[in-house]
Amino acid sequence: MTFTLSDTTYRTDTPQAKEAMYADLRSQLQGLLHGESDWIANTANFSSLVFHTMPGLNWAGFYFLKTEDELVLGPFQGKPACIRIKRGRGVCGATVDRREPILVPDVHAFPGHIACDANSRAELVVPVFSHGQLVGVFDLDSPQPGRFDQTDARGIQSLVHILEQTLAA
Ligand code: SME
Repeated sequence: MTFTLSDTTYRTDTPQAKEAMYADLRSQLQGLLHGESDWIANTANFSSLVFHTMPGLNWAGFYFLKTEDELVLGPFQGKPACIRIKRGRGVCGATVDRREPILVPDVHAFPGHIACDANSRAELVVPVFSHGQLVGVFDLDSPQPGRFDQTDARGIQSLVHILEQTLAA
């Protein structure tokens, strides 16, 4: 595999700037995951690409649904995090129940939010599916309140869809 991480500094102050960043991220991700279907390798590289490309993050990573009712920490970038999260608990567990992205502009206003890092102020969690089954979630944290919006939710979902295709191969 030959892959060089872009050292572009992306703007995120307008929806157009965010769309452009996600278009670049999709193209970089296609290159990074091309021809590889290993689940751990691809989710590890996915976390690294997102964490090192998107400005304003303090954590990016996966939790996998290991049993019917519990998520377990997977590959991530950032500080060490909570290992097990019960289904329905916190933003990640709520995403398992809802099976759709959850956008939290202010984590203090989300009842039951699990604070792995006291610096986190905003969060975005997107479900991950394999062959139609929910297998986990991808979680992004930021120290900036309101850091994520619907453009981010759609953008991260588009990246997760590329990842899901490598799992379906
Ligand atoms: N805040 C998450 C827990 C995971 S950490 O942010 C890495 C939640 O409420 O589910």
